Amino acid sequence: MTAKTSDKALIKSALDALKNSHSPHSGFRVGAAILTTSGGIYPGTNVEFDAFSLTVCAERAAIFNAVSGGEKDFVKIAIATSSRKFKYPCGLCRQAMMEFNPELEVILITSDKEIKRFILKEIMPNYFKL
Ligand code: THU
Repeated sequence: MTAKTSDKALIKSALDALKNSHSPHSGFRVGAAILTTSGGIYPGTNVEFDAFSLTVCAERAAIFNAVSGGEKDFVKIAIATSSRKFKYPCGLCRQAMMEFNPELEVILITSDKEIKRFILKEIMPNYFKL
C-alpha cells in the first residue's frame, strides 16, 4: 500500500481486528490498526488471560505487530470498540503511543460506526520521557 492509504482501509482493519478480540473476561472487544509512513497497516486486538494482568490492549498489540514487521514510523491509529460510547485509550497505551509519535492522529470508532478524531498529545500532557 502507498502512503495515501485511505482512512477507510485503516478503519476496516481495526473493525476486522475487533472481530478477533479474545476477551472472555470483560466481553469488551477492541480492535486497533496503525498506519505507518510507508503505508503499512498493522492490526492488533485485545487478548485477555485467566491470569488477568497478562492482558494486552489492542493498541499495544498493534504497536508490537508493526514493530515486529520492521516499522516504527506511525502516522495514525484507528481504535474500534464494542461500545456505543466513545472509549479513549488507557494510560498505558497513551504512554506507549506517545513514545513513538506525540503527533499521532487517533481515530476512535464506536459500535455504531461513529467517528471522532484527535491528536494523541492533546490527551497526554506531560508524559514520561527519559
Ligand atoms: N482495552 C484495550 O484493548 N485498550 C484500551 O485502551 C483499554 C482497554 C482492553 C483490555 C481489556 O481486554 C478490555 O479492554 C477491558 O479493559
